[in-house]
Amino acid sequence: MRITAHRKAHFNAAHRLYRADWDDAKNMQIFGKCSNPNFHGHNYDLTVSVSGEIDPETGFLIDLKILKDIIKAEVEDYLDHKNLNLEVPEFKTLNPTAENIAVVIHQKIKAVLDPKFDLEITLYETPRNFVTYKGE
Ligand code: NI
Repeated sequence: MRITAHRKAHFNAAHRLYRADWDDAKNMQIFGKCSNPNFHGHNYDLTVSVSGEIDPETGFLIDLKILKDIIKAEVEDYLDHKNLNLEVPEFKTLNPTAENIAVVIHQKIKAVLDPKFDLEITLYETPRNFVTYKGE
């Protein structure tokens, strides 16, 4: 039987969306307030969704303690209270949009998760704006 387990997490981080090859006016036109040159923060809410078969021996899909520890190591310790542009290597050259942050989170968790599971990331940048990424 296929089933999905979800675990929620949270982190705060600062960012600025911009392209260095555009001037401030064009960056402001495209990225709006998220292009403030002095950075600003968001309270990101994350749902990590793991899908697979129920283990008939335990009745579990995945030990949620293992998933909790993975999220702490790969996401919270890595991103919480960071300036994404300045402190997180992936975003030195990649715009830290919700889309790109979701992709980076997916890659980091996928790298350490048992490959038998499918993984989906849901990332809220604001209570009303969120993205989902399945690694496709
Ligand atoms: Ni922003």
